[in-house]
Amino acid sequence: SASRSACNSKGSMIVVSNRLPFILKRNEKTGDLERKASAGGLVTAVAPVVIRGAGIWVGWPGLHLDDPNEKIPESDPKDKTPTAGLLSEKIVPIHAEPKLFDSYYNGCCNGTFWPLFHSMPDRATFIADHWKAYIKINEEFAEKTVRALHLLKQQKGKNGSSPPIVWVHDYHLMLAANWIRQRIEEDDIKCKLAFFLHIPFPPWDIFRLFPWSDELLQGILGCDMVGFHITDYCLNFIDCCQRNLGCRVDRKNLLVELGGRTICVRPLPIGVPFDRFVQLAQNAKPVLSTSQQIILGVDRLDYTKGLVHRLKAFERLLEKYPEHIEKVVLLQISVPSRTDVKEYQDLKEEMDQLVGRINGRFTTPNWSPIRYIYGCVGQDELAAFYRDAAVALVTPLRDGMNLVAKEFVACQINKTPGVLIVSPFAGAGEMMHEALICNPYELDDAAEVIHRALIMPEDERIVRMNHLRRREQLNDVDSWMKAFLKAMDSLEEEADDIGAT
Ligand code: F6P
Repeated sequence: SASRSACNSKGSMIVVSNRLPFILKRNEKTGDLERKASAGGLVTAVAPVVIRGAGIWVGWPGLHLDDPNEKIPESDPKDKTPTAGLLSEKIVPIHAEPKLFDSYYNGCCNGTFWPLFHSMPDRATFIADHWKAYIKINEEFAEKTVRALHLLKQQKGKNGSSPPIVWVHDYHLMLAANWIRQRIEEDDIKCKLAFFLHIPFPPWDIFRLFPWSDELLQGILGCDMVGFHITDYCLNFIDCCQRNLGCRVDRKNLLVELGGRTICVRPLPIGVPFDRFVQLAQNAKPVLSTSQQIILGVDRLDYTKGLVHRLKAFERLLEKYPEHIEKVVLLQISVPSRTDVKEYQDLKEEMDQLVGRINGRFTTPNWSPIRYIYGCVGQDELAAFYRDAAVALVTPLRDGMNLVAKEFVACQINKTPGVLIVSPFAGAGEMMHEALICNPYELDDAAEVIHRALIMPEDERIVRMNHLRRREQLNDVDSWMKAFLKAMDSLEEEADDIGAT
């Protein structure tokens, strides 16, 4: 069963992701490298499986080292996060020439794939040099992964354990799997290859705008299993495989055939570490000293998150329903992200101006409508914000899943719960049925939905939140991990036969 696999780790796992599960920082005083732990849900779920199975993590350490042989430090003995047990010998860092890495990460990943896959082609740039850098860096990841596989093979010797799983993550590494497959076939190494995309997979008429789209599909199809958050993204991917490459496909069973192999495509909606958030919410001290109802937004500062639309919808609320003036506050936390990319710098400017304009328009001697935090917030403080907010606004223009919606729900432990408002254009909007749905493009409607949330009677809040919480507790990030392992376990049976197209 899936849980048996998760606990006993029959085979080892090699995780391949753009970032390692921690970042390296140089201590300015001592000059030593230090690990800075990551608290993300994905890391929390995946790291224990890698550790238990004596697996390996391949990724970029978050800084460029002058000496590529410099040793990765062990974790701080005080570090209690799940990656603490990941010994440095189990870490394979990617080293790249900074300019090349910049063209790959800021140029191709964030300048091309991020906007394109979020169905915003006008923001995407298509630059051959960026694509070349993407190819080179993907080759480097593939090369390091193959070396890691050799290492595992030596360590395991002939004690007959199951073949390792190589799990490649996200849009940064869409080419790596196919090269890994080719190399291991030459070297006669056995492994199961999987890919998971953490962002949406766009419809064909958007996807095909990318000039080298065939190569991307062939790269991903190097895997045995390809996972997306929701069925819609699976179907978009299958559609592209059929229309771009002429693959035989089975939409009912979500299968694609290429070069005599059958690739399983699976919806695997990610969850959050629910119980950890409950605990944080139980222990966190109140941080909001206000008698007003808090409307909360928490996002990376990214143009896909619909932040400008959100502020305008809030402005519309105050225009249409002046009874909320001095009674509500919008607390928007915007976490700095990809600050080297111009689109993100422009968005910061636009947000700063908009917050200033709206506050200038509505502020009274005792009250300002928007509290705007541009910076990172610790987990304890975040849990307190989630717990004490009356309304959470999760209104992206497009989003693969959106974990803020789920973290908010987990932290709703107060007797009178808050209300979740979610965009239908986020993966989370597909399955969190008891949330209020709001189209962020329609400002009048968005204002109406926020008003409805603010005045929602207590019994309705309770019923909605109870359902939301139950679902998220059941489908937390550990159960996502188990679903992935189960899908990998049953690959052979599923791939036996491909049905009619
Ligand atoms: O959601 C996609 C994603 O790449 C995540 O994996 C990551 O945590 C987030 O965006 C932040 O991106 P970056 O690694 O570019 O800072």
